[in-house]
Amino acid sequence: MMKPAILVARAVFPETIARLREHFEVSDNPDDEVWSKQELSRRLQGKVGALTTGSERIDAELLDAHPQLKLVANMAVGYNNFDVEACTARGVLCTNTPDVLTETTADFGFALMMATARRIAESEHALRRGEWTKWSYDMFIGSDVHGATLGILGMGRIGQAIARRGAHGFGMQVIYHNRSRLDQATEAALNARYVSKEELLREADHLVLVLPYSASSHHAIGEAELALMKPSACLINIARGGIVDDAALVRALAARQIAAAGLDVFENEPALNPALLELPNVVLTPHIASATVATRRAMAELAADNLIAGLGCGPQAGRPPTPINPQVLAG
Ligand code: DGY
Repeated sequence: MMKPAILVARAVFPETIARLREHFEVSDNPDDEVWSKQELSRRLQGKVGALTTGSERIDAELLDAHPQLKLVANMAVGYNNFDVEACTARGVLCTNTPDVLTETTADFGFALMMATARRIAESEHALRRGEWTKWSYDMFIGSDVHGATLGILGMGRIGQAIARRGAHGFGMQVIYHNRSRLDQATEAALNARYVSKEELLREADHLVLVLPYSASSHHAIGEAELALMKPSACLINIARGGIVDDAALVRALAARQIAAAGLDVFENEPALNPALLELPNVVLTPHIASATVATRRAMAELAADNLIAGLGCGPQAGRPPTPINPQVLAG
């Protein structure tokens, strides 16, 4: 019997490809090219499933060109690259990779916060340039993380994992703002206090963004929000580009309206606002918050589990572990 055909749109672990080949005719992308929309569409000819990353946009136009497509499995927890409504309307199942990356991403959020507050990248660059000639009382003087007020915008799984680290490991006062408030028991366990967005911006010493990107979170942090923050505050974005208005952030950092920023995600990445590269008070990383060997393996395996089960193969046939629009399964 012919195996169903799927596309793996970006390079992944060879073991994941081998496992998918047990069930499917797999077209893959071992050279990890980032295909244009037209090329992605060409490669999707005849495919019933696709393993994608945040770089592949799955929209109504693409879906209409490929009525045979049944499932798109994102190897990411975020899925703003999917038009989920358009997928659901056409009976296309969408899946993502939650949970497996929560702790790793929270670790990275903390690492970026500490690097930003303690000026690790900036001081290391100066040292490499041979500029370290003496000890001085105010050399790369930064701000404390322990005992400070940790603000979290977006209190899902990753936000909560960051809150736990802050409250229990670093004795921080944790405040948060989210679309919906956590239940009392969870707030108590995290030692986290729900506040308005305005209070969050005014009070946080370190503000970490962990909310999903959507039309409603576009530029959630812009000029007006940055103006409310303390001049000593650090802003950390490990969520998605577009949540921060990068041009407004550049102006705020240059004017020292806030002290510093740590950014793992950018508007229009991998291109960045070139002014960011000129600023000393920003730590820049290339969207690597979930990038550990164990976690990236787990993400690839979960995406494969979703494809296998969602396309009716394997022992979990019909029960993909992490559907985004499970109503498609019921329909
Ligand atoms: C995610 O999982 O959403 C990460 O940002 C990787 O794309």
